[in-house]
Amino acid sequence: MKRIGILTSGGDCQALNAAMRGVIKCLFVSGEKVEIYGFMDGYKGLIYGNFRMLTGKDFSGVLTIGGTILGTSRTPFKTIREPDENGLDKVEAMKQNYHKLRLDCLVILGGNGTHKTAHLLSKEGLNIITLPKTIDNDLWGTDMTFGFQSAVDIATHAIDCIHTTAASHGRVFIVEVMGHKVGFLTLNAGIASGADIILIPEIPYNIDKIIEAIKGRNARGSRFTILAVAEGAISKEDAALSKKEYKEKLKNCPYPSISYEVADQIKQRGGYDVRVTVPGHTQRGGSPCPYDRVFASRLGSEAGQLILDGEYGFMVGYRNREVVRVPLEDVAGKLKMVSPEANIVKEAKMLGISFGD
Ligand code: F6P
Repeated sequence: MKRIGILTSGGDCQALNAAMRGVIKCLFVSGEKVEIYGFMDGYKGLIYGNFRMLTGKDFSGVLTIGGTILGTSRTPFKTIREPDENGLDKVEAMKQNYHKLRLDCLVILGGNGTHKTAHLLSKEGLNIITLPKTIDNDLWGTDMTFGFQSAVDIATHAIDCIHTTAASHGRVFIVEVMGHKVGFLTLNAGIASGADIILIPEIPYNIDKIIEAIKGRNARGSRFTILAVAEGAISKEDAALSKKEYKEKLKNCPYPSISYEVADQIKQRGGYDVRVTVPGHTQRGGSPCPYDRVFASRLGSEAGQLILDGEYGFMVGYRNREVVRVPLEDVAGKLKMVSPEANIVKEAKMLGISFGD
């Protein structure tokens, strides 16, 4: 008999349910007797002992369903050691609930912040297995996270739709893609949808280069220009500021997001008719794409196998097209970013895409 806790933490994404189903199916198919404790709303459920018993039925029909049947929330790692408003020690509470329920292990689905806490719990002696979710694909130790391909599909579709209206009106259009720290999603959706300019946090832009690229397109006979801009895109001047100075600047910034600032500069300096579209959380919503259903199922089944093997302290990741077991200490606290020297960036430039650099 295995007693398994499971939770989803951080921003949701597609295929969380598919991944959990993969874990549970693998365990059931093995014939192992299991009790499943589903903690509600991420680490909060573990801290406050809010869980529900799950059976195979709970995972029936969820392969195609977005979101998470367990709910999720953000529990910032930087305050995890601080007591809550009632003085509760959150880490101790999580450990106590784990032991009280006599769990054999805890399966945690999450992104970067989630992995820091997962690693901490592992160091505190809990048996932890994690699965990499995030539309940002910014987790270290895995070439891919589930949710990413579904989000690429949605962002690509959004830019595809903008293409036709931009062409009709001869406008400059900015589509703001999710990703505050990394640009994998913007880069891939931008290339997939034929964006002309891609701005990502890892490659700070120069507004003059952007206007040059738009003018160049006009000179070659194109009436419109599409920019795929990551939420965290940053100008060269802003990138040169200290963290503190940049935060201060943002406090007094009149724009709701970077895309509006870029749009205003293109309007002012180039005299273009510019529009901004922000697909926002639609990128995290809806049904997982077939790739993510397969991918999350594969990772989930390997997590089930780890439980059967009694191997803990790993994230199930993906490297060189193979599912792999990655020690948590190799993952936690490291961000995977787009390298400005990466082949995909070079190839995008060979296709004529400007990064504004
Ligand atoms: O980490 C996933 C992500 O969707 C980022 O791309 C985005 O910047 C952020 O979460 C949005 O967070 P929230 O849902 O808390 O607004």
